[in-house]
Amino acid sequence: MKQIIITILLCATALVGLRLATKPAEKAPQTVREAIEGRRSIRQYEEREVEREKLQQIAECGVLAPSAMNRQEWELRIVGSKAWIDRCTAAFVEQVKGTPLGDHLLTADFKNMFRNAPAVIFVAAKPSTYAGVNVGLLGENMMLAAYELGLGTCCLGSPVGFLNSEAGSQFLASLGFSEGYVLQYALAVGYPAEQPEAKPRDMSKIVFVE
Ligand SMILES: Cc1cc2nc3c(=O)[nH]c(=O)nc-3n(C[C@H](O)[C@H](O)[C@H](O)COP(=O)(O)O)c2cc1C
Repeated sequence: MKQIIITILLCATALVGLRLATKPAEKAPQTVREAIEGRRSIRQYEEREVEREKLQQIAECGVLAPSAMNRQEWELRIVGSKAWIDRCTAAFVEQVKGTPLGDHLLTADFKNMFRNAPAVIFVAAKPSTYAGVNVGLLGENMMLAAYELGLGTCCLGSPVGFLNSEAGSQFLASLGFSEGYVLQYALAVGYPAEQPEAKPRDMSKIVFVE
């Protein structure tokens, strides 16, 4: 009897240990509010490719966003190629090493210039009064869609400067945006390897006017 009890206790301990070690995936958000509240900018990712269908689904949710007069003056380019990301990163590192930006970014856990993500969605827009609003709406749609699929994202403005520089021009060209379209941001996408706390928000910015 004593032996049976000890065996049961050992099995239970092992199961609890296994559960902690594998940490169950975060529950998918059930409401839009839950998705908005749960999303975080993710800067550490698992070394795991993102399925093409999921990237397509995320991009489609972006394009479902409203745009001024429904002109949809945006273009998206999806890069899931580690080789492309690594080549671009090598050129970027060459440019920033020894600079304050390099010191800030090139830490021990640096894997690539897209906050270590295995996939990136580049967003360009035709310059217009509402271009920023349009791509902003598109971006949040993509981030929430990715979050629902168990993926992490980070909107990145910092790679734009490099891609517009001489050293980055070949990479920008390889994205093949149409003439007149200007790169706005890169969206890092991947399976999250961190669970950051929520950053504070200032709700006093909201004012009812009577
Ligand atoms: C337009 C834009 C540009 C951003 N650029 C960067 C960036 O270059 N690098 C980075 O790590 N995060 C970048 N972020 C992410 C913000 O730092 C992040 O959204 C903010 O700190 C709030 O954190 P949260 O997204 O987890 O709520 C950017 C966000 C936006 C909207």
